[in-house]
Amino acid sequence: MITRREMLLASGGIMIAGGTLTSSRAVAAEPKQLVYHSTDPNNAEPKLGDLVKSWITPTKHFYVRSHAPNPVIDPDEFQLKVEGMVNRPSSLSLKSLGRFKPHSTTATLTCAGNRRSEYNKEGKVGGVQWQSGAIGNATWQGIALADVLKQAEVTPDAKHVWFEGLDEIEKGGGIIPFGGSIPIAKAMIGSGAGAPLLANGMNDAPLTPDHGYPLRTLVPGYIGARSVKWLGRIVVSDRPSPNHYVATAYKIVRKTDPIDWAESGPIYRYPINAAICTPQPETKLAAGEIDLTGYVLPTGRPGTTVQKVLVSADQGKRWTEATTVGKDSEFCWQLWNAKVNITATTKRLMVRALDSSGGFMPYRVPWNAKGYLQNSWYKLPVQVN
Ligand code: MTE
Repeated sequence: MITRREMLLASGGIMIAGGTLTSSRAVAAEPKQLVYHSTDPNNAEPKLGDLVKSWITPTKHFYVRSHAPNPVIDPDEFQLKVEGMVNRPSSLSLKSLGRFKPHSTTATLTCAGNRRSEYNKEGKVGGVQWQSGAIGNATWQGIALADVLKQAEVTPDAKHVWFEGLDEIEKGGGIIPFGGSIPIAKAMIGSGAGAPLLANGMNDAPLTPDHGYPLRTLVPGYIGARSVKWLGRIVVSDRPSPNHYVATAYKIVRKTDPIDWAESGPIYRYPINAAICTPQPETKLAAGEIDLTGYVLPTGRPGTTVQKVLVSADQGKRWTEATTVGKDSEFCWQLWNAKVNITATTKRLMVRALDSSGGFMPYRVPWNAKGYLQNSWYKLPVQVN
């Protein structure tokens, strides 16, 4: 389905020319091939079989998570404000951002709400009812956030960097932007796989409106909510952002009283996770040896790699090691495949994984009110003929 806003892309865009940001007309986006939970705002995830076709997720199969309709932004008028605890506050056009050194990085983006729907077995959770497709691995083109901060001359007592989107979200009777924030130590990483980017490109094409055109942050290793789309403002501060999506949402709480929010910190890193993608749910299977495929994402901690992916067809009595495929790259998922034997009594298939920083998927994750960070053993019910 091509959205009205994707068609509006033709009304202005940026091209990635030699890796630099230039203000120009964009090429039309390829239509999305996703299952939509909502439109306007767009919230959609790919079919799991599509998700594991390639290590790099094509943009048409890349999930979309938006809290408000896509803002329509004129690239010629666009200005990124950089302010707060800096000696040289600035307002930067796309052209002036294009003078910074270009960077490209490959990183997996995953929503903290990925696999949320699984919590409902224990108690209803609100929000977009994600299955396990709110994840994707892309190459991102742009510039290093650290370079922009260095030019702004961050003051020594700065501790956090806030990001603010240009979207307009209805909340509590008012309109607020989507906001994120990250610790200054992460923000100042200027090179390598962990460096946060101000990205204008995804998979070597200009960002589409769904993914934050013309500019977004991309924070490798952190939950998707810290990669703020339609970025309009950066604020350097001595505290985390007071924006709703840092101060209240995206925290692990069992209840949603003020004390619960106050006692719980913002989520930054994502934990290890894995899912079975084929066979897809509801597939009727014949007894015998079958092929399983899926993805595994190691914890978003620097230097962490996948150690083991284990699958079971007998409720965890025996585990078979899966083979990982694709590049073993920091802050990136890997795809995996395995063969298991199933019989008429097989009720479900399961996957769990371990990583090099001690990350493991638990049998059960304690229920939390917002349904975040579901990374328990992934259990796929099956019907065997
Ligand atoms: N940025 C803005 N401005 N508005 C949003 O609603 N959603 C966040 C993040 N950045 C969001 C945002 C969340 S929760 C996720 S998981 C990622 O964007 C999803 O990025 P994608 O839609 O490009 O996959």
